[in-house]
Amino acid sequence: MVRGRRSGIRNPAYTLPMPLFEHHLFVCCNERPPDHPRGCCSAKCSVAIRDALKAAVAQAGLKGRVRVNQAGCLDQCELGPTIVVYPEAVWYGHVRLEDVPAIVSEHLLGGRPVERLRLSAEQINQKRG
Ligand code: FES
Repeated sequence: MVRGRRSGIRNPAYTLPMPLFEHHLFVCCNERPPDHPRGCCSAKCSVAIRDALKAAVAQAGLKGRVRVNQAGCLDQCELGPTIVVYPEAVWYGHVRLEDVPAIVSEHLLGGRPVERLRLSAEQINQKRG
């Protein structure tokens, strides 16, 4: 069965103006019990980081061009708080609240990922524990 544009059926989802984000950030805000062996990003201030990122993006005039979303577990818990930025698929780990200005100014405005926060391909998706 042919769907969407090829079907000839007008689907409103294809005709609405969709924003094309230059960057889309997903901030893990997963919350687990304090005794969970993997911990969680919420216990390491990820909710405050998400809020600060949203505010900094708006302050920088990037609203509508950059989207910051809360995510569930990104499965890099031991490296959290974790953030992934698309379309580049840049992963940040051990992010702190004070790192937010660098993420906005260097990465989102300057186009250069913040290397000191970046998780390497070898660090991501390693089996732990
Ligand atoms: S709890 Fe944040 S990556 Fe799993």
